[in-house]
Amino acid sequence: EGWSTPLTLYDNCWLRSHMVSKFMLVRDDFKPRRDDIILATHPKSGTTWLKSLAFTISSRSRCTFADHPLLTSNPQRVVPFIGVPGTGGDLDHLDTLPSPRLLSTHLPLTLLPPTVSTVGCRVVYLCREPKDAFVSRWHFDNKIGTGAPISLEDAFDMFCQGCSPFGPFWDHHLQYWNESLARPQEVMFLRYEEIVSDPLKVVRNLACFLGVPFTEEEEKSGLAEQIVRFCSFDSLRNLDANKAGGGVERAGGKIFLEASSLFRKGKVGDWVNHMSKDMGEKMDLLVKDKFKGSGLEF
Ligand code: PPS
Repeated sequence: EGWSTPLTLYDNCWLRSHMVSKFMLVRDDFKPRRDDIILATHPKSGTTWLKSLAFTISSRSRCTFADHPLLTSNPQRVVPFIGVPGTGGDLDHLDTLPSPRLLSTHLPLTLLPPTVSTVGCRVVYLCREPKDAFVSRWHFDNKIGTGAPISLEDAFDMFCQGCSPFGPFWDHHLQYWNESLARPQEVMFLRYEEIVSDPLKVVRNLACFLGVPFTEEEEKSGLAEQIVRFCSFDSLRNLDANKAGGGVERAGGKIFLEASSLFRKGKVGDWVNHMSKDMGEKMDLLVKDKFKGSGLEF
């Protein structure tokens, strides 16, 4: 209890209780293909942004900006969440999609089939500075929640105990971090802050990683820059599909969130406007301790 919907600990991961039965099926019934690309994130790390960028880059030969799917669909819908109906992610439906599939997940690696690693699926993992991700989570939960709002202090205590959707935060990160060390060619580890500071560089790297680098002609025409602008916070937020009123079905139909709630501030360092100095220090210490010796730092 506490977060907007009850959570259940399943195989060391806190899942929204009503989604456990769906997510339990993923490890056995999702069939990874060698050419799948999986966008993996801990929630509130920039999933919406990554989906928009990866989709726009990989679909550019068939979608122009004038009739782009993102003009009419929220980014969460253009890339299905594995195992989540309502985002196009039903497992049966995924089987029918042509290769290469662009998919997404908030699940930790341990809840995906081990064949993701053995067949060599490409994974893009996007992470975000923990205090900013936590503040984003707190706002979001109070927006989608149907019960009483959760206080920042209570949310903080739960988060620090590892109890947050798809948490513990550190286990999720460490699994994908270690996977990126084990399969450096196939797992790209990205940071939200890195996209903020040099989006063009990330877009070019992503295109190479997705197997569709920009041609010289495309570079000359400024296509990479156009993609950065098209997927920017202000551009996406102002699309009709993402304005208040548009609903996005999540968590198997249990949560209907306003598409606009996926676009709040899109800033680095907003935590200072919400968390006390003490809370910030406590979170920093905790994160430092949890990631000690792994090579992953924030
Ligand atoms: S979710 O529900 O877990 O899929 O949410 P997620 O998309 O991972 O995270 C939402 C935060 O990302 C910000 N956002 C963006 N930042 C920069 N550019 C773009 N295009 C963009 N789109 C979404 C969004 O505002 C949330 O962060 P906060 O800090 O709350 O603003």
